Amino acid sequence: MAEEGGGEEYLFKIVVIGDSAVGKSNLLSRFARDEFDHNSKGTIGVEFQTQVVQVDGKEVKAQVWDSAGQERFRAVTSAYYRGAVGALIVYDITRKTTFESTKRWLDELNTHCDTAVARMLVGNKCDLDDIREVSVEEGKSLAEKEGLFFIETSALDATNVMKAFEIVIHEIY
Ligand code: GTP
Ligand code: MG
Repeated sequence: MAEEGGGEEYLFKIVVIGDSAVGKSNLLSRFARDEFDHNSKGTIGVEFQTQVVQVDGKEVKAQVWDSAGQERFRAVTSAYYRGAVGALIVYDITRKTTFESTKRWLDELNTHCDTAVARMLVGNKCDLDDIREVSVEEGKSLAEKEGLFFIETSALDATNVMKAFEIVIHEIY
């Protein structure tokens, strides 16, 4: 939108990865449109949305890519990761298996992207604290071990969603 005098000089590609139904698409819709879908269908293939955010008084365009967590819908190869400068690796705090999978998602990320990519481990659905299977400490210590930022979010009640993206964008910037 530089033609409108906005002077958006920066376009940052951020990828969102993680198992099916951890809430990737809802994190994105909360970030980009402040919307949440209780009945969201699994993503098929790849989608992306762009959102302008302010960083240090400058406008930055975040282009956030979302893909299917489910193996059979993953048309994802290197094109998905190409040019990414940030990544959210998402698990569901109420399902331990999704936390255990983050290792595999990290491996895939590392295969396709260099280490300069800003990485954030995201424990989503923190509104469901009463049925939690992954403690905050477990999340934190994995993040420390792997050199990732860490945050817990809720796409449902919007806790920390903007913050998660802002931290990654700020780190890139
Ligand atoms: P795939 O596209 O299959 O990879 O799944 P996804 O990771 O995009 O998950 P999606 O955003 O479609 O959400 C899956 C389910 O979890 C939906 O029923 C959402 O309504 C629900 N959900 C997502 N985020 C939250 C959250 O923060 N809290 C709660 N309670 N439910 C959530
Ligand atoms: Mg999805």
